Amino acid sequence: MTESFATLVPFGLGGLKLWEGSLDLIKVLCSDIKNGLISFSGKRVLEVGCGHGLPGIFALLEGAAAVHFQDFNAEVLRCLTIPNLNANLSGESQALSSNSTICDKAEVRFFAGDWSGIDKLLLPHVSTDADHNHGDGYDFILMAETVYSINSLQSLYNLIKKCLRQPDGVLYMAAKKYYFGVGGGTRRFLSVVEKDGVMTSSLVAVITDGSSNVREVWKLAYK
Ligand SMILES: C[S@@+](CC[C@H](N)C(=O)[O-])C[C@H]1O[C@@H](n2cnc3c(N)ncnc32)[C@H](O)[C@@H]1O
Repeated sequence: MTESFATLVPFGLGGLKLWEGSLDLIKVLCSDIKNGLISFSGKRVLEVGCGHGLPGIFALLEGAAAVHFQDFNAEVLRCLTIPNLNANLSGESQALSSNSTICDKAEVRFFAGDWSGIDKLLLPHVSTDADHNHGDGYDFILMAETVYSINSLQSLYNLIKKCLRQPDGVLYMAAKKYYFGVGGGTRRFLSVVEKDGVMTSSLVAVITDGSSNVREVWKLAYK
C-alpha cells in the first residue's frame, strides 16, 4: 500500500468525534456486500469528511485497490485517521507514516482541505487506471455525517459530481435526516441533488434507535 499526504488550507476540528453515521454506513456496506449488491475488490474509493475514517478502512479491508481519505483538517488525518488505519491494519502491513510505502496491496492517500477547492488535489489522483480498466473517478464515494451545514451542501455536491466515476460510480451517504440548529440533513442535501437532475437516490436504511434524531443511509448513482 502506498500512502501520501496532500493538504490545502487545513483548519477546523469537526472530525475528532466518532459520529453514529459512520457505523450506520458500515452496517449497510456489510449488508450490501453480503447480499452481493456491491464489492470493493479492486475498486477506487474516496471517503469524504472522514474523521476517524472507519468506512474507508472497511473498504480497504474488503479489498479496495485505492482508498483516499479527505478531511478539512490535516491534524484530524494525522492524529485520528492514520492511527485508526494502523490499528485496523496491524498484522496486514507496516505502520503508516507520511510519504512511505507500506505494502503493495493498496494505495492509501490523505487529502486535507475544503470541499470547495479539494478537487484540485484529488483530481490528479482519480484519472484513468488502465490496469484495472477504470474510467475517470472513484467507483465509490463514502460519507458519514457530512451534510449538516446548509452552506457547504452545494460545494460538497459539486465535489461529488467531479469525483464520482461515470456512469457506474456509487455514493453512500449516512447522516441525520435533519440537524437541529444548523438546518442541514439528508433531505436538504437531496434537494440539491434533485435540482441538478443527473443522479437518482434510494433510501437504504432508517435508524431510529433513540440515541439521536432519525438517521438515514442513502445510495446515489447517475441516472
Ligand atoms: C460531523 S464530522 C463526521 C466525521 C466522520 N465522517 C464520522 O462520521 O465520524 C464532519 C466531517 O466533515 C468535515 N467537513 C465539514 N465541512 C467541510 C468542508 N467544508 N470541507 C471539507 N471537510 C469538511 C469535517 O472536518 C469533519 O471531519
